[in-house]
Amino acid sequence: MKKINFNKNWKFAFQNSMDEFNTFGFDKYSDAAGAAARFYDYSNWQTVDLPHDWAISLQKNCFANYFAGAYPNTSYHRFMEERHSNIETVYNIGWYRKQFFIDPEWEGKRVFIEFEGIFRDAIVWVNGVYLDRHNSGYTSFAIELTDHLVFGEDNSIAVRVDSEQPEGWWYEGAGIYRNVHLLIGEPTYFKYHQTVVKADLNGRVEASAILVNDTADIAEKTVAGCIEDANGREVARAESTVRIAPYSEKATDVEMQVDTPNLWSVDTPYLYTLKLQAGCEQTSERFGIRTVAFDPERGLLLNGEPLKVRGACVHQDFGGVGVALTDNLQYYKIKRLKDMGVNAYRCSHHAPSPTLLDACDELGMLVMDETRTFGTSPEAIRQLTDLIERDRNHPCVFIWSLGNEEFSVQNNEWSYRLMEKMTRFAKALDPTRPVTYGGNNGSNFTGANGASEIRGVNYIRNDKSGEWLDIYHREHPEQPIIGTEESSYVLSRGGAVNDLGSGLLDSSGNVTMPWGSTPKGWVKYMEKRDYFAGSFMWTGFDYRGEPNPFFYSNSVSSFGTIDLCGMEKPPFYYYKSWWTDEPVLKLTPHWNHIEGEKVTVVVFTNCEEITLSLNGKALETKRVERFDAPQFEVEFEPGILSVEGTRNGMLLRDELVTSGETAEVRCTSVLEIKKEDEIGIYEINAYDTNGVFCPMASDEIEICVENGSIVGVGNGDPSSFEYEQKSLEEDAKFIKCFNIGNAVFWIPIKKENALLKRKDWLELESESVFYDDDFRLIAKPQTSLPKDQTTEFITTIRDVEKYEYVEFERLGGQAKVYLNGELIGDNIRWHGRQSRNSIRPYRFYGNFRKGENELKVVVAHDTMNDLPLISGYVKIAKQVETSWKVRLHYGKARVFVKSKSPEQLNLVIKVK
Ligand code: GAL
Repeated sequence: MKKINFNKNWKFAFQNSMDEFNTFGFDKYSDAAGAAARFYDYSNWQTVDLPHDWAISLQKNCFANYFAGAYPNTSYHRFMEERHSNIETVYNIGWYRKQFFIDPEWEGKRVFIEFEGIFRDAIVWVNGVYLDRHNSGYTSFAIELTDHLVFGEDNSIAVRVDSEQPEGWWYEGAGIYRNVHLLIGEPTYFKYHQTVVKADLNGRVEASAILVNDTADIAEKTVAGCIEDANGREVARAESTVRIAPYSEKATDVEMQVDTPNLWSVDTPYLYTLKLQAGCEQTSERFGIRTVAFDPERGLLLNGEPLKVRGACVHQDFGGVGVALTDNLQYYKIKRLKDMGVNAYRCSHHAPSPTLLDACDELGMLVMDETRTFGTSPEAIRQLTDLIERDRNHPCVFIWSLGNEEFSVQNNEWSYRLMEKMTRFAKALDPTRPVTYGGNNGSNFTGANGASEIRGVNYIRNDKSGEWLDIYHREHPEQPIIGTEESSYVLSRGGAVNDLGSGLLDSSGNVTMPWGSTPKGWVKYMEKRDYFAGSFMWTGFDYRGEPNPFFYSNSVSSFGTIDLCGMEKPPFYYYKSWWTDEPVLKLTPHWNHIEGEKVTVVVFTNCEEITLSLNGKALETKRVERFDAPQFEVEFEPGILSVEGTRNGMLLRDELVTSGETAEVRCTSVLEIKKEDEIGIYEINAYDTNGVFCPMASDEIEICVENGSIVGVGNGDPSSFEYEQKSLEEDAKFIKCFNIGNAVFWIPIKKENALLKRKDWLELESESVFYDDDFRLIAKPQTSLPKDQTTEFITTIRDVEKYEYVEFERLGGQAKVYLNGELIGDNIRWHGRQSRNSIRPYRFYGNFRKGENELKVVVAHDTMNDLPLISGYVKIAKQVETSWKVRLHYGKARVFVKSKSPEQLNLVIKVK
């Protein structure tokens, strides 16, 4: 099959923006309505290139699902407290459309569309024909389009995506967030994801595939197989023949021999390519020659040799882009993990993007490939099948994970049965790899753990004492053990103290969740046990959502050893010291404190001995044991804190210098753009007048780009609710009073959360007595409104045609809002349990016209709570795009860019 990239020039709109989106219907062929229709005017939709994630373009809101990053694109998480369920507009449904020309020469061929991943609940139409729906947000799928296409003409595709229901408990994104392809096959074609390559260490390669004959004739085919080495040279060739009845399919095998094969390993990730040809139809698969096995005493054996799994669990999002990572960002993340010595990646807890596995194949990173849904329901089995069929040729994948922490069943026999059956399915699809399950239930053996081929342990601390694993191993000597999840320390990128109120923790990794361990805690534990195959830290990178140990004050996790934007936190150097051969000496976190303060500094190093000095005076010398991370207590005095050490006779040095205020910001490229569809990364750093890095700088930086465009910005601050994509500012006009009958009512304003007490309305009373010809209107200030059942507030506003909505900070009862006689807001849900002080803006969109507009608000008196009917601000406003900006966090931030002429790309930055 020919694969054509189909990422460019899509159109996108939120369903909330128009009523007609809601009707599409499944009734007649090619007759879908609304946005799903064959012809549809979407000229005002936004143009987007895929991959695309709409969630991070939304304003974060602490009332939204903060387990998913606090973006209002998903419903509230079941783990959240109920009181956070107060969000009015959820941008959960997005539509994508694209017009595309179908080459007349493809007539007679078979055309498919492949989506590598859509989050989630996707419905797909072509030319108004309802094709299919795909619920999983993580598995890839292909749909045949052939019968519904018009060759030699424009065709249309529509995809409706609904991200409302979470599949996990982390940020999952929203939209068509992975690559899309057209696949063009011959009438007799290789079936999707059915080509399988198996190789042994002697170089014997078995390739099998399924050919589909979609014609009325018998297909007699010669299937030619060849293998190319990493330089594209042919190293093996063989043929077989196959006879396929009309409109049916048949499996075919080709066996080949690669002499003196180069083996795939994490240090030498050597790749071969299998090519199969049947007539004009072709397919190819990259593969590696390697074996994986587990030994209960020696752990993982890669090519027969023990290899300790030094792994990282990772979720798929990244700074500035959400889950819509371009291919080069996938590679970048894997390289960062390799840099710190990680040799294995756990796709927690779902199918990864295909590009991620390509990166792991090429860069030498083992992968624990995981399915999202545990169980044997049709959906769970479909997901498992899609995962294994798609990924089984990747040499990096060394184990399948069939589930993670299934609290409700993992301790009982129910999960034992499920695990056993899932294992059978997995083995039928791929007999070459073992399976596991991530159980956080310690020594339990009755449930899924007992049925696991390899015991997966989430957190040693989930049982009584540290010895339980040794006892478990003695009691189940046949079952190999791997740590599926460990560490769960929480840390900032650069802080020295635990500032809980700011949602920031110290950066050493010494603060952990109750089930977690410090970097050296878990590493020492696993490194000294040969039977323990190794383990995966939680997590390699920070991710949006699950802001443990904080709640809605933060929106990003603090678990990562690398932050959300790819910047390392101090323990990065811990792993680099002990898991790579490079000399490392790193003093952390910074030397900007209060005079006389006692400060803890941590040194990450693989030197044998180190000496700490302050302003040239030696303070203390320490021997460094393997897997240690020495700490020192030092009384702060400004200047230079330095450390020197020796390793194999080599002298190493590092220092921290006290800095002044930000005087200058500099920008350097950390990831270059090599192809047009790639994303580049720039890093901004702050320096004082002496050119010393400012580790505590939090200045706001304004950014302009020449010869390119900014995709997003980020700073790795887990407590930030600032925009990562272009920020919006509000252009607003405030309404200060309303008329009630003849009276004028001033909206009470708020001061320090209490309503300012004052005379809040004014009545003009007519009077013509007292003495002759004295007709007058008396201005009589009143203190409170009459307590009628409903009160009608009216005002006339002028020159507001550019605005889009009216927003009330507080409405004290059921309200109806009318603009020029038209109802624009109705039946506001009133939460009886809501506290008086809760701030809850109510926003209503309407068509403001030129000249005068009448705004009328009818509020029913809420006798139970007796709140002011309208209070706080009332404004007419619209959102306007501002220039790009980003705040520094611990002196640093990153900018994500695209460019068609990367050599001319230039970023201009200045402190705001
Ligand atoms: C584990 C879970 C992960 C994550 C982690 C946080 O229990 O498998 O998904 O929630 O805890 O420590």
